[in-house]
Amino acid sequence: MHDASQTGSGYPTQAVGLPQLSVIIPTFKERDNVVTLFRRLEKTLLGIPFEAVFVDDNSPDGTWEVLRALSREDGRVRCIRRIGRRGLSGACIEGILASSAPCAAVIDADLQHDETQLPKMLTLLQGGEFDLVIGSRYIEGGSAESFNRQRAGASALATEVAKRVLRVEIADPMSGFFMIRRDRFEALAPQLSTQGFKILLDVVATAHGDLRVKEIPYTFGSRLHGESKLDSMVALDFLGLVLAKVTNDVVSLRFLMFAMVGSLGLVVHFAALYTALEIFRIPFAEAQACGAVCAMTSNFILNNFLTYRDQRLKGLAILRGLLLFYLVCSVGLFANVGVAFSVYDQQPIWWLAGAAGALMGVVWNYAMSGLFVWRKR
Ligand code: GDD
Ligand code: MN
Repeated sequence: MHDASQTGSGYPTQAVGLPQLSVIIPTFKERDNVVTLFRRLEKTLLGIPFEAVFVDDNSPDGTWEVLRALSREDGRVRCIRRIGRRGLSGACIEGILASSAPCAAVIDADLQHDETQLPKMLTLLQGGEFDLVIGSRYIEGGSAESFNRQRAGASALATEVAKRVLRVEIADPMSGFFMIRRDRFEALAPQLSTQGFKILLDVVATAHGDLRVKEIPYTFGSRLHGESKLDSMVALDFLGLVLAKVTNDVVSLRFLMFAMVGSLGLVVHFAALYTALEIFRIPFAEAQACGAVCAMTSNFILNNFLTYRDQRLKGLAILRGLLLFYLVCSVGLFANVGVAFSVYDQQPIWWLAGAAGALMGVVWNYAMSGLFVWRKR
């Protein structure tokens, strides 16, 4: 039986004033919103011991500085400042894992979510009947009044895809507002994707129907200050998540994108080779080298903007990354030719040998790029 006043280890938490609820707030450029949000949390959670864990991705507007100051005023506030990383899902996961209460809520910093629902959500979780309570826009009583038509359409489409493809049976799997029991979350955490926006969908899909879910309606309001960080690239992240979940994490979007960029590189290579040979009349060997350099450079740029946009290299790091990428790809080419050659030796089928070589090359380049070029900091 789940007893709200007990932690898993059986210690009464209320007695020593430990938090009953951890509120996780991911932030990126929310300087003008965070204090207002905390004041509202304080008001609505009066009498409930809670902690507020902000996770800021080193916002250039200095959100984390505002939060540091706030945490010097109020011990319930903490701010995790992440450097060199971006991503809403990853921020939420780290925030929850760094918190301590038996229940954890995720809420946006811009006041679009209705924080006054939190006490009700907590009561529902503490009742022991549910593992996850979702603030839902798409059930009776809920709405998304601030959405424009385009955003509403995209949200509805993504919800449909999630329901059909991932067999998720909740009305608003795209919601960014929910509360979950920590023990359930901790169990799922290792399988969650840190890329993208859709943490709730990931949680529900990963649990395979194993969570007892309750949805409660709320109205998705308008942002207080600043602007949304969701861009059209979020659609890619969403597809990536669906793909990873459907294939049981065998195919990652990152790899697929890396391979797609690689195929495009082939086109660049031939275009450059042709131009060098036909227009500049450069000898073949030099023209071929020129094609390879052009292809590697364009691959690097595209990967930096798309495949690894959450870890995008900037400034001088771009140059260093590019040189490392050249190195990785050159070795990859040897691996490619080596494998193709040995396959051809066994079975002289040119396309089979060629494909084996190319596969070897792309797997090598992908693995090594992840290790050396866009390595996790
Ligand atoms: N740490 C961190 N890193 N926080 C981020 C990042 C990031 O890369 N990107 C966004 N955030 C924070 C924002 O500062 C904000 O507090 C919250 O995540 C939501 O971001 P918004 O940019 O305001 O997103 P939205 O309003 O367009 O969409 C939100 O609401 C939808 C409906 O509930 C998100 O929560 C969506 O996931 C959700 O579907
Ligand atoms: Mn928002």
